[in-house]
Amino acid sequence: MYAVTINKYGDASNFQIEKDIDLPKPKPNQILIKVHASSVNPIDLMKREGYGRAIFEKQRKILFPWILGSDFSGSVIELGSKVTGFNIDDEVWGCTSNANSGTHSEFVCIDVDEVTHKPNNINHLEAASLPYVALTTWSALVRWSGLRPNDLKGKKVFIQGGAGGVGCFSIQLFNNLGCEIATTCSKKNIELVQSLGANQVIDYNEENFEDVLHNFDIAYDLLGDNVSHNSIDKCCKILTQSPDSHYITLTHPLVNTLDSKGLIMGVPHALYLRQVQKNKYRPINIHWSIYRPSLSGLEQLTQLVQEETIKPVIDSVYAIEDLQLAHQKIATGHVSGKVVIDHKV
Ligand SMILES: NC(=O)c1ccc[n+]([C@@H]2O[C@H](COP(=O)([O-])OP(=O)(O)OC[C@H]3O[C@@H](n4cnc5c(N)ncnc54)[C@H](OP(=O)(O)O)[C@@H]3O)[C@@H](O)[C@H]2O)c1
Repeated sequence: MYAVTINKYGDASNFQIEKDIDLPKPKPNQILIKVHASSVNPIDLMKREGYGRAIFEKQRKILFPWILGSDFSGSVIELGSKVTGFNIDDEVWGCTSNANSGTHSEFVCIDVDEVTHKPNNINHLEAASLPYVALTTWSALVRWSGLRPNDLKGKKVFIQGGAGGVGCFSIQLFNNLGCEIATTCSKKNIELVQSLGANQVIDYNEENFEDVLHNFDIAYDLLGDNVSHNSIDKCCKILTQSPDSHYITLTHPLVNTLDSKGLIMGVPHALYLRQVQKNKYRPINIHWSIYRPSLSGLEQLTQLVQEETIKPVIDSVYAIEDLQLAHQKIATGHVSGKVVIDHKV
């Protein structure tokens, strides 16, 4: 089979298409899938450069070649001996967290708790744009913040960075849950985020969100200090000083701390850093969120797409052999929705 691999950490020029990779054999709890489309997330660029090596290198059976990519949409080729509920040729989608089976390849083995049937009202390219960003927000709300989505009606939610992959999904989700949404983006994306349900849009080149927003319940900070110095301070400034307020960040020092200090020293140090933040901003709840797989989240996403509550937002589509260009597009930091990879070769 073919796959796009890296053989060392570095820039996007390190990608190579290999055409003689052995077809993987599904384990009893896995499904072998032919990938029709995948997508690129900023974490792929970071992993390519060595981010998370303390975690991912432990999980990889062979260090290199490494196939990146998490999202997939495709069809079932072979079932592991213990798999039920799927048939050959079923159209499926999902997102793998298995460091040994990236989706920028012709075939991939997926654990059965990371895959479900694809909604039939979207195509494979559209489907590959959603699972990772959707489950990121699902994890952020349900797992890390302990919030029940159905209790969010009427809450004022600020999303820093609404125009990217996570933002475009999250605006639609919060809108559907009955929240009042404010978000930031550049001028070119204002209409897009409004069309998805943002009630108030702040062009970050014209205004500082912390000067115009007040009394919010939740700040969902997708970009953090990558785009705004001392982002946590600014986000907490717009929140009501209450134990019902939540600051949720996707860009926090956890993984970098593990990389720099190792797992044994890094975990307690990261917990200490988080506790310092929790103490500083109390009574506001501080959450460091990280993507976690969730089959129930994927099933809810399927339903939301099927009923057209959530629509895919695609910035651009690249052929699998142009993965390098797709990485360069994400690296601009200014996409509108998702960058998707077409596996038609
Ligand atoms: N912790 C986790 O598990 C986890 C999971 C998923 C993602 N993430 C992180 O979450 C972040 C967002 O991910 P993504 O997939 O949505 O990224 P993305 O698709 O690459 O989106 C980037 C977006 O950032 C916007 N942006 C750039 N500068 C901005 C600024 N100063 N203020 C507001 N918006 C700005 C851009 O909009 P304009 O073009 O309008 O500037 C663009 O749409 C990334 O840092 C990613 O690494 C973390």
